[in-house]
Amino acid sequence: MKVVVTGGTGMIGRKLISSLLATPELTDRDGNKSEVTSITAFDVMPPDPPLPDDDRLSVVTGEISDTGAIASLIGDDTDAVFHLAAVVSAQAEEDFDLGMRVNLDGTRIILERCRALDHAPRVVYASSVAAFGGEMPDVINDTVTPNPQTTYGVTKVIGEYLIDDYSRKGFIDGRALRLPTIVVRPGRPNKAASTWASSIMREPLAGHSAVCPVTEESKMWMLSPRRVVEAFRHAQVLDSDAWGPHRVVNLPGITGSVTESLQALSRAGGNSARALVSFEHDPFIQDIVDGWANTFVTPRGDAMGFTADADLDEIVSVFLEDDLEGQHAYYE
Ligand SMILES: NC(=O)c1ccc[n+]([C@@H]2O[C@H](COP(=O)([O-])OP(=O)(O)OC[C@H]3O[C@@H](n4cnc5c(N)ncnc54)[C@H](O)[C@@H]3O)[C@@H](O)[C@H]2O)c1
Repeated sequence: MKVVVTGGTGMIGRKLISSLLATPELTDRDGNKSEVTSITAFDVMPPDPPLPDDDRLSVVTGEISDTGAIASLIGDDTDAVFHLAAVVSAQAEEDFDLGMRVNLDGTRIILERCRALDHAPRVVYASSVAAFGGEMPDVINDTVTPNPQTTYGVTKVIGEYLIDDYSRKGFIDGRALRLPTIVVRPGRPNKAASTWASSIMREPLAGHSAVCPVTEESKMWMLSPRRVVEAFRHAQVLDSDAWGPHRVVNLPGITGSVTESLQALSRAGGNSARALVSFEHDPFIQDIVDGWANTFVTPRGDAMGFTADADLDEIVSVFLEDDLEGQHAYYE
């Protein structure tokens, strides 16, 4: 079966592709287990560092809002699409037009292309806990209505509604995951307002200093890269019936404060690692982070078989096992 990954050279896209190459099994258009024989990574950025050299993988560099490029990318031979391409939170906040073009128009173009096929492909969509905002209960459960307070969150929620409606109409078999903040993110800091949550663990564990722009009490809803890749794969293979008419799920995660993250850092890297983190308050970032939901109960996601990391120590271990070695290249 043929699989397309948009945002395929991004952090999660790369990890998903590596996982699919290592364990090439998903569910095809008929709902049967099937071997993944072809993966296309689509992204506006070429892969850096390169993606694995593998005959089953091709990389297409292009713009998600280019209807012609998407028509060439997704065809009647495409069984599954993982739609991950997006501009992240702070970038969409700074540049409204870019956020709308990439996150909203791009998603609509992907869905319209899928609708034009001779079958309804499985589409897995990356949404975000940025769906929630404004007045919220202390604990978000599965019935809380999204009320995003950023352009990024708005585009993600509109994408969710489109996934629901295109699925209801039978144009696609869609699935949308509201991702926690993915920590520890390997590579360089990005333009997400949450980028510090990874930096304060990643940089010290690699022997470099990091600056935390928010207070020690600030909390985040988190999941490791390993678990999120498992979640994308699991979402793709779940039966349609498991989703029902509402195609969106809040992924399980764990709540961690800056203090707790730094304690996990000390346990893994000692006091010398902890000493590499300093604080420099940034009210712009603090405001965005304070507006995010950070504590959830996720009975729907749990019942569907999605899983969270056990604790922050597991999150740190995943980074040490999967990414620390490759991380050193980013400081050269
Ligand atoms: N990482 C997180 O903490 C997190 C949390 C919630 C939701 N998400 C969502 O998960 C998805 C993947 O996140 P990630 O962490 O891998 O982000 P990322 O920024 O590493 O990857 C996104 C990719 O999209 C690509 N892209 C941006 N504009 C594009 C365009 N115009 N055309 C084609 N490609 C374009 C980027 O080049 C990038 O490679 C995104 O949709 C993101 O919004 C991520």
